Amino acid sequence: MKAAVLSHETDFDGWRRAARGFRQAGVAPGDAVFRVGDAGGGLFDDALPPSAVEPVFGVPKAFVDLAGEVILHRSIDRFDLMYRLLWRLRDEPDLMKVVTDIDVADALERAKNVSRASHKMKAFVRFRQVEDHDGERWVAWFEPAHRVLEKTAPFFVRRYTSMRWSILTPDGSAFWDGDALTAGPPATRDMAPAEDEIEEFWKTYYASTFNPARLKTKTMQGEMPKRYWKNLPEAALIPELVAQSAVRTDAMVATPAAQPNQRLAKTLSRMNRDHSFDEGFVPSTLEELGQAVQACRRCPLWRHATQGVCGEGPRQARLMIVGEQPGDQEDLAGRPFVGPAGGVLDAALAEAGIDRDDVFVTNAVKHFKHEPRGKRRIHKTPLVSEVSACRWWLDAERRLVKPKVILTMGATAALGVLNRKVTVTKERGEAIAQPDGAKMLLTVHPSYLLRLPDEASRASERGRFIDDLRRVRRLL
Ligand code: URA
Repeated sequence: MKAAVLSHETDFDGWRRAARGFRQAGVAPGDAVFRVGDAGGGLFDDALPPSAVEPVFGVPKAFVDLAGEVILHRSIDRFDLMYRLLWRLRDEPDLMKVVTDIDVADALERAKNVSRASHKMKAFVRFRQVEDHDGERWVAWFEPAHRVLEKTAPFFVRRYTSMRWSILTPDGSAFWDGDALTAGPPATRDMAPAEDEIEEFWKTYYASTFNPARLKTKTMQGEMPKRYWKNLPEAALIPELVAQSAVRTDAMVATPAAQPNQRLAKTLSRMNRDHSFDEGFVPSTLEELGQAVQACRRCPLWRHATQGVCGEGPRQARLMIVGEQPGDQEDLAGRPFVGPAGGVLDAALAEAGIDRDDVFVTNAVKHFKHEPRGKRRIHKTPLVSEVSACRWWLDAERRLVKPKVILTMGATAALGVLNRKVTVTKERGEAIAQPDGAKMLLTVHPSYLLRLPDEASRASERGRFIDDLRRVRRLL
């Protein structure tokens, strides 16, 4: 029996050198042992000739790449499996192409597990804010299914380049100070902070995006395996949300859409037909405006919407926030931002220190534009002509409320206010003076945060969104 001592659990270079040496010396897989421990005793228990550590035959790159992944797997026989493959490669040079081979299939499966663990780490790491002697630092505790910290840390560097952060795991730690990524020793859970106010955000965010009608428990557990729940603040809500889902779905189905004022709608519809609408009608209150919009025929969107949805908030609000158009839930409720995007907006406003009750919240377009897909109504972006037609209503709201600051969320909202096409990323953060004296700022739409594919980018973009709201607050 020959033993090689590797310096740590993911010592790929050490394994490679040892495996080459074993292969050269003709040590068969059953006789080669790889141990992780103190390398002080030498690479091999029984020393091999120095020439043995040189490469002796070429191996395909696919093998080297696969070995690099498999070695991160937590199974204790991972080194042996890869050595067995290396042993066989000399006589079976095309072995790596035989995906049905038992060893190849096993290695591919383990590599897949490793890749999945890395993906889960990107999705489920939750940073908590702490103060250290250099200021703000973000610390996360995470228990990856396999040893993927080193492999995955560069992702967090790219994602959170400007933050100082630490990721602590039972295998080791990664520290980023804004310039350099360094590795640290294994950690324990109590070394990371347990809670902060971000906790509440995740809960609000999760609860508002949880749609009971779309619950598929199996898929959910596949995407968000239970082993990660203990470090996810929002996971505390899952059992209750799942338990209530049937009742909530029934309630959603049973709730009729809020009815517009039929009498006024009829009158205004007649006015509209008589062409007296555009010229003569000037709403003098927000209530009148909200009822009058039910008769709007300025563009075809009214045909398929339940009702027009005007803005909501104090008549003398200093801040007006403009979204794109009502979504599915807003169309049914007759109120803006009451669905998932509204949940994200509310939580972010609270975090920026803005009370939604002080804000007039509205949309550039007042009717829900959508197309049917099965039983669902899928959002469609309004055309420029539809936004232009609806500006009449937005302008009327602006005249009545006279906000000091207008925040537009997304390109359609900015088009509605500015009457020109806008690239949000280019003009974000600038205060644009308006003819009526108001200052306008642009930011992204909260639905954009909901659509981001992973939790990490959502957290970082959400941070920027809250910064924009804080800027708005300072302007007020
Ligand atoms: N998205 C919007 O732009 N507005 C709403 O009211 C809801 C979702």
